[in-house]
Amino acid sequence: METLAKNVVSMIPGLKPFLKRRRDGFNRSLLRYRCYRYEKKVNARHMGWQHSGTVNYSKRSSELIFWYHKLEKGLCLPPENRRFFGQYPAQQTLMLLRKWRSDRLSCDATVYKAAIGVLEGYRDFVQNIDPQTTQVKQTLTELNAFLSVQDKTEDSYRTPIDFKLLPEDSYDVLYSLALSRRSTRNFKSQPVSMDIVEKAAALAQLSPSACNRQPWRLHLYQDKNDIERMLELQNGNRGFGHTIPMLAVVCCDMGAFFDSTERNEPSLDGGLFLMSLLYALQSMGLASCCLNWCVDPRRDQQGHRTGAIPDNEKILTFLAIGYAADDTVVPLSARRPLSDLIVEH
Ligand SMILES: Cc1cc2nc3c(=O)[nH]c(=O)nc-3n(C[C@H](O)[C@H](O)[C@H](O)COP(=O)(O)O)c2cc1C
Repeated sequence: METLAKNVVSMIPGLKPFLKRRRDGFNRSLLRYRCYRYEKKVNARHMGWQHSGTVNYSKRSSELIFWYHKLEKGLCLPPENRRFFGQYPAQQTLMLLRKWRSDRLSCDATVYKAAIGVLEGYRDFVQNIDPQTTQVKQTLTELNAFLSVQDKTEDSYRTPIDFKLLPEDSYDVLYSLALSRRSTRNFKSQPVSMDIVEKAAALAQLSPSACNRQPWRLHLYQDKNDIERMLELQNGNRGFGHTIPMLAVVCCDMGAFFDSTERNEPSLDGGLFLMSLLYALQSMGLASCCLNWCVDPRRDQQGHRTGAIPDNEKILTFLAIGYAADDTVVPLSARRPLSDLIVEH
């Protein structure tokens, strides 16, 4: 029967490629549907700030930052727009700080102290508003009630701060750093110290993120077997995977986001973090190569299991880190002309 069908197919011109196109199209649709359903499930399960049972530090801190950041940025608008603002965000911040304490989260946490720093800056602003309307007075009373029983924050948490101008040669310095960074696919066996990667991460952390929630997570693997097991799941390391002394997995905590309208933020925030990390590593003599995580849902779950990565963290990319081998060459990877990318309106 099968042979007969094959013979018929081969006798009709154009039928074989037609059937192949249909089959490929069907498989693509199926994959699209599976990826879409998986994404939807992950978003539904992990986005949003509701807490089931015990309080979740990551969600609570993201929500807190989200609200106090509205105050912090409002304090930096042009002077003519610095009319009274922020009553609701201030109330949300106060409510979340009270919950923070009643949930016994640490008051030494950076996020908590930063929130107090913002409230102090905001109070200075509210105090000087003229006229002191009922709304203004009410906000001031609420702020004073909370801050009066609170230790004053350290100076390092004072906000806003002055805008800094850089020396004129800064572009050249940055340009030469960008020019020298190239994806490297040949590493020395020399191990990479955790200290240096932490230093790079401390710089990458200065990247912008939506409402400054900093949803990044960086998983680091140095054990040869761990690296090998992770790289088996990835399709872009053939020929050099065995030389990688440290593997990083850049993830994004989905619990940092309030709902699915923020669905693009994980990749954006993560991408900004990743770029800064690459530059920081390069500036300290380390080489790197991003390794795509373009995988179907099953493979993604395997990646989470193998790397002991929690389900609420979206894996964005793998990253090879190490010292370039002595004889390393890198692709030129010529860039397109600017006219291909800039559209002037
Ligand atoms: C998200 C992402 C995924 C990548 N995945 C791979 C990969 O799997 N394997 C690989 O050898 N290179 C990978 N690369 C490196 C790109 O090929 C490289 O960045 C590009 O060719 C430009 O070259 P350059 O990084 O040297 O400037 C990836 C880069 C990015 C940004």
